[in-house]
Amino acid sequence: MYGRAEEVLARALGPRREDVVVATKVWTPDAGEGARQVARALDWFKGRVDLYQVHNLVAWPEHLRFLEARREEGSVGSIGATHWDPRAFGELEEVMRTGRIDVVQVPYNPVEREVERRILPLAEELSLGVVVMRPFAEGELTKRVPDGFRPRTFSEFGVETWGQALLEWVLSDPRCHVVIPATSRPGRPTENAAVGGPPFFGPDERRRVATLAAGA
Ligand SMILES: NC(=O)c1ccc[n+]([C@@H]2O[C@H](COP(=O)([O-])OP(=O)(O)OC[C@H]3O[C@@H](n4cnc5c(N)ncnc54)[C@H](OP(=O)(O)O)[C@@H]3O)[C@@H](O)[C@H]2O)c1
Repeated sequence: MYGRAEEVLARALGPRREDVVVATKVWTPDAGEGARQVARALDWFKGRVDLYQVHNLVAWPEHLRFLEARREEGSVGSIGATHWDPRAFGELEEVMRTGRIDVVQVPYNPVEREVERRILPLAEELSLGVVVMRPFAEGELTKRVPDGFRPRTFSEFGVETWGQALLEWVLSDPRCHVVIPATSRPGRPTENAAVGGPPFFGPDERRRVATLAAGA
């Protein structure tokens, strides 16, 4: 699904492997193929993947058994489960409640807020890590900068661009720990990584960004 991304990332990191947190996913209905995917990734990332996630809950009981053994031996740091579709959140809750995963990955942005109902409260209750995908609603929210966006009014938070305002919005929810914006442009990660730390938005700033996003 992600082509040769793991191999390319491993090569790009080279000797800097220890300086970063590597997260990846297993995605196959077949337990044997899952084990092979994990073995290949561990080989590329010098024997350790910090976060291994079961993509879209596919064959999660099978993959969890295998990943738990890797976590036990120390080659996997944490185990996660992902889903993008609110219709699957019931099953995601079930997996969260097994106590077998450390992290969930879900979509969250000002116009896709389904996770606020059950997933984020449950993650908080169980002390699970939360990785947020689709912070820009797959680019829908960044197609144009809302007319009313005034960077000046967010400057105390280090926010200079509309994209940064959306990322700060996500990470200002204390139940969210990591956000993974996608991009095809090499300059963006620098812009995106410049925000996401304190001071965080309060309820007023979050409401303002949500209102702007609703009209974006
Ligand atoms: N587990 C799952 O089932 C699942 C499902 C979907 C996505 N994901 C993951 O979630 C992550 C998010 O991916 P996504 O593509 O769905 O959505 P996204 O991050 O919400 O949106 C990506 C779009 O945002 C634009 N963008 C990035 N930084 C920007 C900035 N600073 N200012 C303006 N525009 C900006 C990109 O355009 P440019 O290319 O022009 O920068 C791209 O079009 C990815 O890592 C993806 O692999 C996981």
